Amino acid sequence: MNDYGLNAIEAWNNRPRRHYETISVKPLTHTIGAEISGVDLSTELSDQQLDEIRHAWLENLVVIFRDQQMTPEQHKRLGRRFGALHVHPLNAVKPGKDPEIFEVKAGKHSKTVAGEGWHTDVSCDAEPPMGSMLYVTQMPEGGIGGDTMFANMYLAYDMLSDRLKSLLEGMTAIHDGAIPYAGRYRHKVPEGGFPTAEHPIVVRHPETGRKLLFVNPGFTSHIVQLTGYESRCLLEMLYRMIEITPSLICRIPWTQNSMVLWDNRCTQHHAVWDYYPLNRYGQRVTIAGQAPSA
Ligand code: SIN
Repeated sequence: MNDYGLNAIEAWNNRPRRHYETISVKPLTHTIGAEISGVDLSTELSDQQLDEIRHAWLENLVVIFRDQQMTPEQHKRLGRRFGALHVHPLNAVKPGKDPEIFEVKAGKHSKTVAGEGWHTDVSCDAEPPMGSMLYVTQMPEGGIGGDTMFANMYLAYDMLSDRLKSLLEGMTAIHDGAIPYAGRYRHKVPEGGFPTAEHPIVVRHPETGRKLLFVNPGFTSHIVQLTGYESRCLLEMLYRMIEITPSLICRIPWTQNSMVLWDNRCTQHHAVWDYYPLNRYGQRVTIAGQAPSA
């Protein structure tokens, strides 16, 4: 690894870590992901439990809670402790479904699966979600597979050379919902189209204040300030950098009734569809966010 990468990882690992009293937090890697135990998410959490979970989430970017028994109402109540709930653009066009629950399901007849391919949830919204909580209640038969990979987008930024960082500062990119929803998933385009938004490429996390890289292959169509060719090459290079840098990635191995909570503002994720033709089912509650700013 080059010096930018080594320095970025060293600085990341030297961040002060919090001590937790009401939960136990076990990191999954040195750079992203943790497993939290000692809490029953179906109960009304105390303010201290919530504060510690929030802190562990901000510190580790993605956290998994195993063996949780949650009804959809308890799931939504937990989501609301973090903020208002987000309605997915695809739920807005599905009559009869709870708009605040986004279903993730795949089986023998599936041609696509939600979340396959690196992406940041709904970054095409002017105010993309702050976080997502996915509760998987059906694992592929045999109990293995369907892992989700998560990438640390703070580190993706920190690992860039200074010259590339300064080139990206001040540039913006378009995020277009039609790319996944009409393109990959072949959904009918609703009246008025799917959302599109222009966001800075380098943004500051609204809670931690850290800079991060905010582009993803799932939604980002182009960089506004460059020619089409320059934009394609630069975006490809940034995406490829994430693919070839496993030190900024973790892989969450699900078990039945696990809840995974990720910070959508500073991660990308990729659902691994390695279990076809087996079945997997989960429900996601998504927390509303704010416009990313530089
Ligand atoms: C998603 O992108 O929300 C789906 C993730 C998963 O199925 O693991």
